[in-house]
Amino acid sequence: MKSINEILRDSFSQALILAFGAEMQGVDPCVVPSTNPKFGDYQCNVSMSLAKKLQQKPRDIAQKLIDSVNLTDICENPTIAGPGFINLTIKPAFLESQLSAIETDPRLGVETVAQPQRAIVDFSSPNIAKEMHVGHLRSTIIGDSIARILEFIGHDVLRLNHVGDWGTQFGMLIAFLREKFPQALTTADALNIGDLVSFYKQAKVRFDEDDQFKETARNEVVKLQSGAEDTLFAWKLLCEQSRREFQVIYNLLDIKLTERGESFYNPFLADIIADLETSGILQEDQGAKCVFLEGFSNKDGDPLPVIVQKTDGGFNYATTDLAAIKYRIQQDKAERIIYVTDSGQANHFAGVFQVAKRAGILPENVEIVHVPFGLVLGEGGKKIKTREGETIRLKDLLDEAILRAKNDLESRLKTEGREETSDFINNVAQIVGISAAKYADLSQNRLSNYIFSYDKMLALQGNTAPYLLYAYVRVQGISRKGDIDFDNLGENLQITLQEETELVLAKHLLQLSEILKQIETDLLPNRLCQYLYELSQKFNLFYENCPVLKAEKQLQTSRLILCNLTARTLKLGLSLLGIPVLERM
Ligand code: ARG
Repeated sequence: MKSINEILRDSFSQALILAFGAEMQGVDPCVVPSTNPKFGDYQCNVSMSLAKKLQQKPRDIAQKLIDSVNLTDICENPTIAGPGFINLTIKPAFLESQLSAIETDPRLGVETVAQPQRAIVDFSSPNIAKEMHVGHLRSTIIGDSIARILEFIGHDVLRLNHVGDWGTQFGMLIAFLREKFPQALTTADALNIGDLVSFYKQAKVRFDEDDQFKETARNEVVKLQSGAEDTLFAWKLLCEQSRREFQVIYNLLDIKLTERGESFYNPFLADIIADLETSGILQEDQGAKCVFLEGFSNKDGDPLPVIVQKTDGGFNYATTDLAAIKYRIQQDKAERIIYVTDSGQANHFAGVFQVAKRAGILPENVEIVHVPFGLVLGEGGKKIKTREGETIRLKDLLDEAILRAKNDLESRLKTEGREETSDFINNVAQIVGISAAKYADLSQNRLSNYIFSYDKMLALQGNTAPYLLYAYVRVQGISRKGDIDFDNLGENLQITLQEETELVLAKHLLQLSEILKQIETDLLPNRLCQYLYELSQKFNLFYENCPVLKAEKQLQTSRLILCNLTARTLKLGLSLLGIPVLERM
């Protein structure tokens, strides 16, 4: 089903050609939702931009467009405002018919794309033997939501966890453990990730100050790369221990991911060097193999290199990413590759993408994008830490959100004089706590840093998960109170929009597909949050102004449909953010 915005766009595209000839083919008619209700619901702003080309006054162009466009069933008479804006107000009868159409559609009018793409979302991607940090949490939450949205609109999505499971650090760690804690390398479960992280730090210190140790560590790397059994076994054990820790977080957050770590690409790294050689862009610089980037220079103005093979023959993070691009395009048939990492990696990706293009690994028709995000800060805008100044463990952070949600709920139950079972309380606390943390992250424009605040994210008012969940619960309450079965409201349902708050809610309900289309291109899930937040606000206004259960039968049914459509839209939208709904809370 076409959205109202699309219908208007198509109508004005036709009107442009009708009024000004075939050369208007492909001109964007610039139809947008209006920012202020006094300018109607939508505006067509194309007249101003055509003035020069057509040598006519914008207001005259607008008039000709109005004379050519056929919108009698859809809009009230279009009006011209200011320099030549065309203001459009949708007729209630048209809104009613559109709502009836989405009402019967389980997808609420959101069509699947005409041309599904094979898309890879590379997200989460923590590092073995290191703790997953808040940056990985952001990547996990944002990446999952992007994957969910692309999947819902019909793309074929491969969710990849590019785990940092390879590299010289393993030589160092294994050498250290052999010496200090050999059982860790032969027995599963001998270590937890906390130990591993602290061993990692100690190993690094040894590595930096002890040449003998450095030699042993290098030797372990060589053994690892040549597949020596005991080293490989130790490495696998370390990976498994970390993996188990990561899985705890993924389970809590309900994240599905396919692990394909850096080690996977190990057999293909040499080929990448050969590809770069053949394409003639590989250069030697002080014994290292590198590609000098175009358009990137250091502070002395010299071109910046991407080093793909170090003097000692070892490969880099960038080499692995080049191999991954090649594999993803040739084997996975990727048409779009999306990397969700912090903004700090922007240069890395810009460099890798450029090299891949110049080496012919990355064809024109494959879209490759880095989806960067800002930092998560602690209260006061500083780096997020525990009270003792340690890095916060993600598990602790999420558990704390759940605990606080539980405290909030218990005190609310007390004030309301409500009794609930402990199962109920625990379940609500779990869902509210996790959802609040996810939503706090997703509702920010991902490019900005944000301050992590339990109080803010758990508030029942404002742009928070609890506020949206509560709007959903409110609708379920109506059905309980009035003994209403939303799936069975009767035959020949008729929607009638009379009150202003009903019209406002109806127009908003009809915009979901347009929002998802925008996110498909700009990969900004905060748009969906904003949409759902406004939906909840508009619903609450409607609900305060329009009696539902007390209305006479026909009006009651119409309003029940609006309530149910709101709940269904919330449920669907939240599911695309990885957030489940609650019937009661
Ligand atoms: N492991 C990296 C990190 O923790 C993120 C990997 C992102 N994906 C990639 N293909 N480079 O920073």
